[in-house]
Amino acid sequence: MENAIEIKNLTKKFGDFVAVNNISFNVKKGEIFGFLGPNGSGKTTVIRLLIGLLDATSGSGNVLGYDIIKDNAEIRKHTGYMSQKFSLYEDITVEENLDFYAGIYGVPKDKINQRKKEILEMADLVGKEKLITGSLSGGWKQRLALGCAIIHDPDMLFLDEPTGGVDPIARRQFWDIIYNLSQKGVTIFVTTHYMDEAEHCNTIGFFYYGNVLLMDTPNNMKKHVGSIDKVKPSLEDAFVFLVDQKNNEVES
Ligand SMILES: Nc1ncnc2c1ncn2[C@@H]1O[C@H](COP(=O)(O)OP(=O)(O)O)[C@@H](O)[C@H]1O
Ligand SMILES: [Mg+2]
Repeated sequence: MENAIEIKNLTKKFGDFVAVNNISFNVKKGEIFGFLGPNGSGKTTVIRLLIGLLDATSGSGNVLGYDIIKDNAEIRKHTGYMSQKFSLYEDITVEENLDFYAGIYGVPKDKINQRKKEILEMADLVGKEKLITGSLSGGWKQRLALGCAIIHDPDMLFLDEPTGGVDPIARRQFWDIIYNLSQKGVTIFVTTHYMDEAEHCNTIGFFYYGNVLLMDTPNNMKKHVGSIDKVKPSLEDAFVFLVDQKNNEVES
Protein backbone atom coordinates (compact mmCIF):
# COMPACT_ATOMS: atom_id res chain seq x y z
CA MET A 1 0.00 0.00 0.00
CA GLU A 2 1.54 3.27 -0.99
CA ASN A 3 -0.85 5.68 0.74
CA ALA A 4 -0.75 6.24 4.47
CA ILE A 5 -4.04 8.14 4.38
CA GLU A 6 -6.95 7.93 1.94
CA ILE A 7 -9.90 10.21 2.58
CA LYS A 8 -13.06 10.45 0.52
CA ASN A 9 -15.82 13.06 0.76
CA LEU A 10 -15.28 13.66 4.43
CA THR A 11 -17.73 16.07 6.05
CA LYS A 12 -18.10 17.16 9.66
CA LYS A 13 -20.97 19.33 10.83
CA PHE A 14 -21.42 20.76 14.31
CA GLY A 15 -25.19 21.37 14.25
CA ASP A 16 -25.78 23.37 11.06
CA PHE A 17 -22.19 24.57 10.94
CA VAL A 18 -20.05 22.81 8.35
CA ALA A 19 -16.53 22.59 9.79
CA VAL A 20 -15.19 20.17 7.14
CA ASN A 21 -16.82 20.37 3.75
CA ASN A 22 -16.67 17.22 1.64
CA ILE A 23 -12.88 16.92 1.42
CA SER A 24 -10.96 14.17 -0.36
CA PHE A 25 -7.21 13.63 -0.31
CA ASN A 26 -4.45 11.05 -0.05
CA VAL A 27 -1.18 11.19 1.85
CA LYS A 28 1.69 9.08 0.56
CA LYS A 29 3.59 6.81 2.90
CA GLY A 30 6.74 8.42 4.29
CA GLU A 31 5.97 11.98 3.23
CA ILE A 32 5.64 15.14 5.29
CA PHE A 33 2.18 16.40 4.50
CA GLY A 34 1.03 19.79 5.75
CA PHE A 35 -2.38 21.37 6.09
CA LEU A 36 -1.95 25.11 5.95
CA GLY A 37 -4.85 27.33 6.93
CA PRO A 38 -5.96 30.19 9.17
CA ASN A 39 -7.31 29.75 12.69
CA GLY A 40 -10.77 28.29 12.76
CA SER A 41 -10.50 26.74 9.31
CA GLY A 42 -11.00 23.20 10.61
CA LYS A 43 -7.47 21.80 10.83
CA THR A 44 -7.81 20.34 14.32
CA THR A 45 -11.19 18.90 13.40
CA VAL A 46 -9.64 17.04 10.45
CA ILE A 47 -6.97 15.47 12.68
CA ARG A 48 -9.60 14.45 15.24
CA LEU A 49 -11.64 12.82 12.48
CA LEU A 50 -8.61 10.94 11.16
CA ILE A 51 -7.64 9.45 14.51
CA GLY A 52 -11.20 8.68 15.54
CA LEU A 53 -11.62 11.25 18.31
CA LEU A 54 -14.60 12.61 16.37
CA ASP A 55 -17.16 10.82 14.21
CA ALA A 56 -17.59 12.09 10.67
CA THR A 57 -21.01 13.29 9.59
CA SER A 58 -20.44 11.60 6.23
CA GLY A 59 -17.64 10.28 4.06
CA SER A 60 -15.05 7.59 4.57
CA GLY A 61 -11.37 6.94 4.75
CA ASN A 62 -8.51 4.96 6.13
CA VAL A 63 -5.29 5.65 7.97
CA LEU A 64 -2.54 3.03 7.49
CA GLY A 65 -5.23 0.83 6.01
CA TYR A 66 -7.48 1.10 9.08
CA ASP A 67 -11.00 2.43 8.66
CA ILE A 68 -11.40 5.83 10.33
CA ILE A 69 -14.93 5.00 11.44
CA LYS A 70 -14.54 1.42 12.67
CA ASP A 71 -10.87 0.85 13.50
CA ASN A 72 -9.95 3.85 15.61
CA ALA A 73 -8.39 1.73 18.37
CA GLU A 74 -5.97 0.29 15.79
CA ILE A 75 -5.30 3.74 14.35
CA ARG A 76 -4.36 5.09 17.75
CA LYS A 77 -2.07 2.14 18.38
CA HIS A 78 -0.07 2.82 15.20
CA THR A 79 -0.07 6.61 15.19
CA GLY A 80 1.16 9.36 17.47
CA TYR A 81 -0.72 12.58 18.12
CA MET A 82 0.74 15.79 19.43
CA SER A 83 -2.19 18.05 20.18
CA GLN A 84 -2.19 21.81 19.83
CA LYS A 85 -1.98 22.37 23.57
CA PHE A 86 0.81 19.93 24.32
CA SER A 87 -0.91 17.46 26.63
CA LEU A 88 1.83 17.30 29.24
CA TYR A 89 1.39 17.13 32.98
CA GLU A 90 3.09 20.26 34.22
CA ASP A 91 3.54 19.26 37.86
CA ILE A 92 5.44 16.02 37.31
CA THR A 93 8.94 15.42 35.96
CA VAL A 94 10.05 14.92 32.37
CA GLU A 95 10.62 11.23 33.03
CA GLU A 96 7.24 10.81 34.72
CA ASN A 97 5.52 12.25 31.64
CA LEU A 98 7.36 9.75 29.43
CA ASP A 99 6.41 6.90 31.80
CA PHE A 100 2.81 8.04 31.77
CA TYR A 101 2.57 8.04 27.97
CA ALA A 102 4.46 4.76 27.72
CA GLY A 103 1.69 3.32 29.90
CA ILE A 104 -1.12 4.90 27.89
CA TYR A 105 0.31 3.58 24.63
CA GLY A 106 1.06 0.15 26.10
CA VAL A 107 4.81 0.13 25.50
CA PRO A 108 6.05 -3.29 26.73
CA LYS A 109 7.79 -3.01 30.15
CA ASP A 110 11.08 -4.43 28.87
CA LYS A 111 11.22 -1.79 26.13
CA ILE A 112 10.35 1.31 28.15
CA ASN A 113 13.86 2.17 29.35
CA GLN A 114 15.37 1.84 25.89
CA ARG A 115 12.64 3.98 24.36
CA LYS A 116 13.00 6.63 27.06
CA LYS A 117 16.73 6.80 26.44
CA GLU A 118 16.20 7.20 22.68
CA ILE A 119 13.57 9.89 23.18
CA LEU A 120 15.64 11.88 25.68
CA GLU A 121 18.54 11.85 23.23
CA MET A 122 16.35 12.76 20.28
CA ALA A 123 14.73 15.63 22.18
CA ASP A 124 18.02 16.90 23.60
CA LEU A 125 16.64 16.38 27.11
CA VAL A 126 19.39 14.16 28.54
CA GLY A 127 20.14 15.39 32.07
CA LYS A 128 16.70 16.99 32.42
CA GLU A 129 14.84 13.79 33.35
CA LYS A 130 14.18 14.89 36.92
CA LEU A 131 13.11 18.46 36.16
CA ILE A 132 9.51 19.44 36.76
CA THR A 133 7.88 19.78 33.35
CA GLY A 134 6.29 23.13 34.18
CA SER A 135 9.75 24.64 34.68
CA LEU A 136 10.91 23.83 31.12
CA SER A 137 11.15 26.43 28.35
CA GLY A 138 8.71 26.32 25.44
CA GLY A 139 11.13 24.53 23.11
CA TRP A 140 11.91 21.82 25.65
CA LYS A 141 8.24 21.27 26.43
CA GLN A 142 7.53 21.02 22.75
CA ARG A 143 10.20 18.38 22.22
CA LEU A 144 9.03 16.48 25.30
CA ALA A 145 5.46 16.54 23.96
CA LEU A 146 6.77 15.17 20.68
CA GLY A 147 8.69 12.48 22.56
CA CYS A 148 5.56 11.47 24.47
CA ALA A 149 3.63 11.25 21.19
CA ILE A 150 6.14 8.82 19.68
CA ILE A 151 7.11 6.77 22.73
CA HIS A 152 5.41 3.72 21.13
CA ASP A 153 7.39 4.12 17.90
CA PRO A 154 4.39 4.80 15.62
CA ASP A 155 4.36 4.54 11.81
CA MET A 156 2.56 7.83 11.48
CA LEU A 157 2.60 11.06 13.43
CA PHE A 158 -0.04 13.79 13.64
CA LEU A 159 1.23 17.20 14.72
CA ASP A 160 -1.32 19.93 15.35
CA GLU A 161 0.34 23.36 15.10
CA PRO A 162 3.38 21.97 16.89
CA THR A 163 5.58 25.05 16.96
CA GLY A 164 3.14 27.68 18.18
CA GLY A 165 4.77 29.97 20.72
CA VAL A 166 8.34 28.68 20.47
CA ASP A 167 11.37 30.64 19.36
CA PRO A 168 12.99 30.27 15.90
CA ILE A 169 15.95 28.23 17.16
CA ALA A 170 13.66 25.75 18.89
CA ARG A 171 11.50 25.59 15.78
CA ARG A 172 14.52 24.74 13.67
CA GLN A 173 15.60 22.06 16.14
CA PHE A 174 12.10 20.63 16.15
CA TRP A 175 11.98 20.42 12.35
CA ASP A 176 15.37 18.69 12.29
CA ILE A 177 13.83 15.97 14.46
CA ILE A 178 10.80 15.73 12.17
CA TYR A 179 13.05 15.33 9.11
CA ASN A 180 14.90 12.54 10.89
CA LEU A 181 11.69 10.74 11.70
CA SER A 182 10.53 11.15 8.13
CA GLN A 183 13.78 9.71 6.84
CA LYS A 184 13.21 6.68 9.03
CA GLY A 185 9.91 6.15 7.22
CA VAL A 186 7.44 7.77 9.63
CA THR A 187 4.65 9.54 7.74
CA ILE A 188 4.01 13.02 9.10
CA PHE A 189 0.72 14.94 8.97
CA VAL A 190 1.20 18.46 10.28
CA THR A 191 -1.07 21.47 10.52
CA THR A 192 0.19 25.02 10.62
CA HIS A 193 -0.75 28.58 9.93
CA TYR A 194 2.89 29.58 9.36
CA MET A 195 3.71 29.93 5.68
CA ASP A 196 7.43 29.34 6.26
CA GLU A 197 6.69 26.14 8.11
CA ALA A 198 4.67 24.84 5.19
CA GLU A 199 7.85 25.09 3.12
CA HIS A 200 9.21 22.14 5.12
CA CYS A 201 6.52 19.83 3.75
CA ASN A 202 6.73 17.58 0.69
CA THR A 203 3.07 18.25 -0.04
CA ILE A 204 0.78 20.94 1.28
CA GLY A 205 -2.94 21.36 1.22
CA PHE A 206 -4.25 24.89 1.42
CA PHE A 207 -7.16 24.57 3.79
CA TYR A 208 -9.71 27.34 4.07
CA TYR A 209 -12.84 27.14 6.19
CA GLY A 210 -13.51 23.49 5.68
CA ASN A 211 -12.38 23.36 2.05
CA VAL A 212 -9.21 22.17 0.39
CA LEU A 213 -8.30 24.90 -2.10
CA LEU A 214 -5.32 23.16 -3.68
CA MET A 215 -2.90 20.39 -2.86
CA ASP A 216 0.59 20.26 -4.32
CA THR A 217 4.28 20.65 -3.58
CA PRO A 218 5.28 24.07 -2.19
CA ASN A 219 7.14 24.86 -5.44
CA ASN A 220 4.23 23.97 -7.68
CA MET A 221 1.93 26.02 -5.46
CA LYS A 222 4.07 29.06 -6.14
CA LYS A 223 4.22 28.33 -9.87
CA HIS A 224 0.46 28.17 -9.89
CA VAL A 225 0.31 31.90 -9.22
CA GLY A 226 3.70 32.66 -10.75
CA SER A 227 2.27 32.53 -14.23
CA ILE A 228 -0.36 35.06 -13.24
CA ASP A 229 1.43 38.10 -11.87
CA LYS A 230 4.51 38.14 -9.65
CA VAL A 231 8.00 37.26 -10.78
CA LYS A 232 8.83 35.38 -7.61
CA PRO A 233 5.62 34.58 -5.76
CA SER A 234 5.68 33.29 -2.19
CA LEU A 235 3.43 30.67 -0.68
CA GLU A 236 1.52 33.51 0.91
CA ASP A 237 0.89 35.05 -2.54
CA ALA A 238 -0.40 31.70 -3.74
CA PHE A 239 -2.65 31.30 -0.73
CA VAL A 240 -4.10 34.81 -1.00
CA PHE A 241 -4.66 34.30 -4.72
CA LEU A 242 -6.58 31.07 -4.16
CA VAL A 243 -8.64 32.54 -1.31
CA ASP A 244 -9.67 35.45 -3.55
CA GLN A 245 -10.57 33.01 -6.27
CA LYS A 246 -12.65 30.97 -3.82
CA ASN A 247 -14.43 34.06 -2.48
CA ASN A 248 -15.23 35.26 -6.01
CA GLU A 249 -16.61 31.83 -6.79
CA VAL A 250 -18.88 32.03 -3.74
CA GLU A 251 -20.08 35.55 -4.65
CA SER A 252 -20.82 34.81 -8.30
N1 LIG B 1 -16.84 20.42 19.27
C1 LIG B 1 -17.20 21.49 18.55
N2 LIG B 1 -18.46 21.97 18.57
C2 LIG B 1 -18.82 23.03 17.82
N3 LIG B 1 -18.00 23.69 16.99
C3 LIG B 1 -16.73 23.26 16.91
C4 LIG B 1 -16.26 22.15 17.69
N4 LIG B 1 -14.94 21.96 17.40
C5 LIG B 1 -14.61 22.90 16.49
N5 LIG B 1 -15.68 23.69 16.21
C6 LIG B 1 -15.70 24.81 15.25
O1 LIG B 1 -15.20 24.33 14.00
C7 LIG B 1 -14.39 25.32 13.37
C8 LIG B 1 -13.04 24.73 13.07
O2 LIG B 1 -12.33 24.55 14.29
P1 LIG B 1 -10.89 23.91 14.36
O3 LIG B 1 -10.91 22.58 13.72
O4 LIG B 1 -10.45 23.96 15.79
O5 LIG B 1 -10.05 24.93 13.47
P2 LIG B 1 -8.45 25.17 13.41
O6 LIG B 1 -7.80 24.01 14.07
O7 LIG B 1 -8.13 25.29 11.96
O8 LIG B 1 -8.20 26.46 14.12
C9 LIG B 1 -14.35 26.52 14.32
O9 LIG B 1 -15.32 27.45 13.86
C10 LIG B 1 -14.74 25.93 15.64
O10 LIG B 1 -15.38 26.88 16.46
MG1 LIG C 1 -6.51 23.94 15.61
